[in-house]
Amino acid sequence: MKAKIKINKEDVISKIDNRLFGSFIEHLGRAVYGGIYEKDHETADDCGFRQDVLNAVKELNVPIVRYPGGNFVSGFYWEDSVGDRAKRPHKMDLAWGTIETNEIGIDEFQEWAKRVNSEVMMAVNLGTRGPMDARNLVEYCNLNTDTYYANMRKANGHEEPYGIKVWCLGNEMDGPWQIGAKTPQEYARIATETAKVMKWTDPSIELVACGSSSPTMETFGTWEREVLRGAYENIDYMSLHCYYGNPDNDAKKYLASSLIMDNFIKEVVDICDEVKKEKNSDKTVNLSFDEWNVWFHSNEADKEQEKWQIAPPLLEDVYNLEDALVVGSLINTLIKHSDRVKIAALAQLVNVIAPIMTKTGGGMWLQTIYYPFYYASTFGRGFALNATCECDTYAAGDPESEEYKKNNFGHIPYIDSSVTMSEDKETISVFLVNRSLDEEVELELEGFDGYKISSHVELTHDDLKAINTIDNPEEVVAKEKNISDKVVLSSKSWNMIKFS
Ligand code: AHR
Repeated sequence: MKAKIKINKEDVISKIDNRLFGSFIEHLGRAVYGGIYEKDHETADDCGFRQDVLNAVKELNVPIVRYPGGNFVSGFYWEDSVGDRAKRPHKMDLAWGTIETNEIGIDEFQEWAKRVNSEVMMAVNLGTRGPMDARNLVEYCNLNTDTYYANMRKANGHEEPYGIKVWCLGNEMDGPWQIGAKTPQEYARIATETAKVMKWTDPSIELVACGSSSPTMETFGTWEREVLRGAYENIDYMSLHCYYGNPDNDAKKYLASSLIMDNFIKEVVDICDEVKKEKNSDKTVNLSFDEWNVWFHSNEADKEQEKWQIAPPLLEDVYNLEDALVVGSLINTLIKHSDRVKIAALAQLVNVIAPIMTKTGGGMWLQTIYYPFYYASTFGRGFALNATCECDTYAAGDPESEEYKKNNFGHIPYIDSSVTMSEDKETISVFLVNRSLDEEVELELEGFDGYKISSHVELTHDDLKAINTIDNPEEVVAKEKNISDKVVLSSKSWNMIKFS
């Protein structure tokens, strides 16, 4: 099969906001305890952070990490997690049916984020708490005033404010599973009032309002419209969440998941702009896709876990090549929408639906999905370029289904791509997924005059279901390919072609 990617270097979609390559750590399963933190581990640093994990996260180059949830945040009393550790309460976390010890809290996480060169994107509890609790946390984190909460932080040994810029107004408040779920009107109201007092406390912060937990929610669309109508002038971003999976083991359909993401983004952009027009506002609300990933492998195992354990293994999806190809095309979609998606978070980062896995008390390994994220995060900064991709298409799924019709599953391009150019214009990176399960694709590249291919990295395997494990961590790893005049994308492969 043949395909052609054509660019015009002047045709820029947008400058990519670095925060597009963000991720997420929730107090869930072994993400924190046994993941980023394990004080008796042989690699633990002076704060008890695992340095093997710390180095892997640093390598991934994640500029912002959402914290502390997720569903967890809707039952979180942030004051439990600061001050004398010996006095911190153990609490029942109703979101995940576990026990939270509060050994790691606001201050420790801030320190961890600093050590991995990331900013924190802090979520506040709007499920079971309200505006003042949220603004108190802003004061605790960001202010230098001689006032109660700022002084509390100083008394806890943290003289300098943290300057946390991005704040999430709750989490998935549309979801019936959420502690304290709300109607869109109820949420718009509490989000507005909370936003007001948070910004009065620190006018420099940016706020993310909860959008739908998935485009499949019955309230999707109505939720966004109502929330925006009520809160438009007080918020800066609308959030999107979506997880993808292959429960029917239909690889051809699953590999088209990014078409669902693409539609979701377009629909939310349209709603934001409709409300902007209704309100005759000068302000544009951008998007924060602050939970995205593949999540389905661990669903059954999680049902077997007993309740009220401390840091049990939960949501420990083991990712295969197929999942990495999906993640690669999801990143391409985010890059292509970087004019409106300014923040995104791969959910999550360590052990919980994560690229980085650990054995508690043991080693660490990288899952297949690590690679497309690593290369995009490292070489996909700068500008997103418009590119045309000419290639064959295929059909997958049930032609009668809503999903098929809505997402154009009758015409799935075999090649999925995105193109970025570094800020100094010295390098151009082309990220590609060949969705064909059995055919390689010979690629023609047009518009790259003045540049030469300097690297072609490929992630592939004969077996679509191949995985990495602690004992066999290099079964599916990205490898440099020999550069020749002919650019060939193997069947079922993710690729980065770098021009300099
Ligand atoms: O990332 C796992 C969970 O998925 C989050 O806690 C929640 O926000 C979403 O439903």
